[in-house]
Amino acid sequence: MEYLGMGDEAPAEQPRLRRDGDPRQDVTPVEVVEDPPAESSRIHSSGASEADPAYRASNPLSIRAGRLGDTRQAFDSIAAAYDGPRHNNALLRRMRADLWRTLAREVPAGGRLLDLGCGPGLDAVHFARAGYDVTAIDWSPQMAAEARAHAAAAGVADRVEVRALGIQELEALGGVLFDGVYSDLGPFNCVPDLRAAASACADRLRPGGKLIVSVMGRVVPWEHVYYALRGDFARAFVRLRRGAVPVSMNRRTVWTTYYTPREFHREFAHRFELTAYRGLALCLPPPYLVDLYYRFPALGRLLGRLDDRLAGLPLLRGAGDHFLMVMTRRAGAR
Ligand SMILES: C[S@@+](CC[C@H](N)C(=O)[O-])C[C@H]1O[C@@H](n2cnc3c(N)ncnc32)[C@H](O)[C@@H]1O
Repeated sequence: MEYLGMGDEAPAEQPRLRRDGDPRQDVTPVEVVEDPPAESSRIHSSGASEADPAYRASNPLSIRAGRLGDTRQAFDSIAAAYDGPRHNNALLRRMRADLWRTLAREVPAGGRLLDLGCGPGLDAVHFARAGYDVTAIDWSPQMAAEARAHAAAAGVADRVEVRALGIQELEALGGVLFDGVYSDLGPFNCVPDLRAAASACADRLRPGGKLIVSVMGRVVPWEHVYYALRGDFARAFVRLRRGAVPVSMNRRTVWTTYYTPREFHREFAHRFELTAYRGLALCLPPPYLVDLYYRFPALGRLLGRLDDRLAGLPLLRGAGDHFLMVMTRRAGAR
């Protein structure tokens, strides 16, 4: 199972980061691939364990706060390295380019964008260069600091405002409205209350405004087959588990909930129409298997073309390492 974070299994010979030109060449996504612990082992200061159902039932808020804190620490710990060339990965760049193209189609340049879980700001810098004004937030203060530094280095600090805020804290942005809200490569998988986040997103969007997200999915044929063939069934099917799964990253824990597109949209349906969705990395391997992609480039190109043709088709579009979804804010609904 992978997490989009640090790529302990990333290949040494990855292309170096470039900061201009083709979006498939100038972004620096990264990936971590580590085994999740079988069950939560978080022990609270009282000595109580989250594994105890009675504790879980009586302390939902402290569990939520603890998990958010774990996730923040994990991303803080990798923020400085997240943008390094070692973690540049062609498969993640491909997925990122899909969101870039989709957003450019859905929200005219010159609009005002909100980036949720911006990481070190690769998307925010891209969209600022493309003529948008971007407010970018991240729950990890270290990621937010990286994003600020990248915007300054790219000369777009006047178009990118970065705040260290969680998606669960969107009301702190006040009454400002955006033309588009986006979230790339999994931040929504870390949000504890998706329905509340959906309402908060809708409140930040103009009526008819677009929400464009890429989210880690549940059904990943490559992952199921790859790990099942290695006899690692827990890892092969970890994404089928319900609720938040503790995923290890850089020896810390990211609490991750996986969704099918249908499960995800269900939490947004009270405020958003489903406009479109497609799978990402359906025929192509998941980004943590990028070594295979580099080793067999002709096959990789073929699988990429198949993805372009197949990953948006009914029945297939719910599968893939991530899915890319466009939703439209309903007028007036609350
Ligand atoms: C895999 S990274 C993706 C970063 C960025 N969107 C990108 O495409 O490079 C996930 C990001 O989500 C952030 N994140 C995790 N939980 C969050 C939350 N509850 N609110 C906002 N950001 C969160 C992490 O700090 C991290 O920067």
